[in-house]
Amino acid sequence: MKTIPFWMIAMAYLWCAVDVSHGMLLTTSCMTFEEDYNFKEDKFDGTWYEVRRLNDHNATQHEDCVVMNYKLGEKGSFEIRESYQVGDESAPIYRSGKAEPKVFQDARIPKFLERFNTTDPADPDISIDIVATDYSSYAVVYSCTSINSTHHIESAWVLSRQPALAKNVVELVNLFLESRFTRDDHKWRATIHTADYCKPTSVETLPVYGAGNRIPVLSIPVVLLGMLLVRLFF
Ligand SMILES: *[C@@H]1O[C@H](CO)[C@@H](O)[C@H](O)[C@H]1NC(C)=O
Ligand SMILES: *[C@@H]1O[C@H](CO)[C@@H](O)[C@H](O)[C@H]1NC(C)=O
Ligand SMILES: *[C@@H]1O[C@H](CO)[C@@H](O)[C@H](O)[C@H]1NC(C)=O
Repeated sequence: MKTIPFWMIAMAYLWCAVDVSHGMLLTTSCMTFEEDYNFKEDKFDGTWYEVRRLNDHNATQHEDCVVMNYKLGEKGSFEIRESYQVGDESAPIYRSGKAEPKVFQDARIPKFLERFNTTDPADPDISIDIVATDYSSYAVVYSCTSINSTHHIESAWVLSRQPALAKNVVELVNLFLESRFTRDDHKWRATIHTADYCKPTSVETLPVYGAGNRIPVLSIPVVLLGMLLVRLFF
C-alpha cells in the first residue's frame, strides 16, 4: 500500500479550510456593544433561520438555507442542531454543537462559547454574543474569537424565527446593523431561504422546548374543569 504523501494531506486540508466561507473576517480589535438587557434563555430556544451573515466578500462559496435549533440545557447552556446547504445541488449538511454561558452573571449582554462537532480540535471555541433579540422575531449574534496575540476572527449573523425577517422588524434590524457595523469590510450577505433552493431539513421539524415558545398548557376549559373538580371533592 502506498502511503499518501504528507503534502497531499496538507493541501487537502488547506483546500477544505478555504473552500467554504464561514463568513469570517480578520480583525485586530473586537467590537464592543453597549446594549444591556436581561437575557431570558428559555425564550431564546427553538428554531432560528440565519437570514444574513457578515461576509468575507472574497468568498466564492457560501452556506445557505441555514437553520438551527436551540435547546436549553443545564445551567443556561444550549444544545444546538444546525443544517445548511452549499449550492442548490447539495443535500443539507448537519452539525451539532453546544453553547456554554461565559461570565453569565455580570455580562451586560449574553455571551457564550460555542463548539460544533465539526470544529477542528485545534481550533478554539467560538465566542458568541447575542447583542440584540426580541425572542419572537429576530436576533443579532456577534462573534469575535482570538486566533493569536494580534488577530481575531469576526463574524455576525441575523437570525429570524421565520425564513424571512418579519416586516415590522426589518427597519429596526437595518438601523441596528448600519449604526454598529460601520467598518468598510462589514458587508452583509442575505442567506438564501427560497423553497425551490433549500431541501427539507430535519432541523426544522425538531421540537421546540422552552417556555417562551410553548403553547400555554393550561387552556381555559382545563382550568374550568379543575375548578369544577375542586368543587365536587371539597
Ligand atoms: C479580497 O480581495 C481584494 C481585491 O478584490 C483584496 O484587496 C483583499 O486583500 C482580499 N481580502 C482577503 C481577505 O483575501
Ligand atoms: C455532527 O452532528 C450531526 C448531527 O447530529 C451528525 O449528523 C454528523 O454526522 C456529526 N458530524 C461529525 C463529524 O461527527
Ligand atoms: C496572527 O494571524 C494573522 C492571520 O493569520 C497574521 O496575519 C498575523 O501575522 C498573526 N500574528 C502573529 C503575531 O502571529
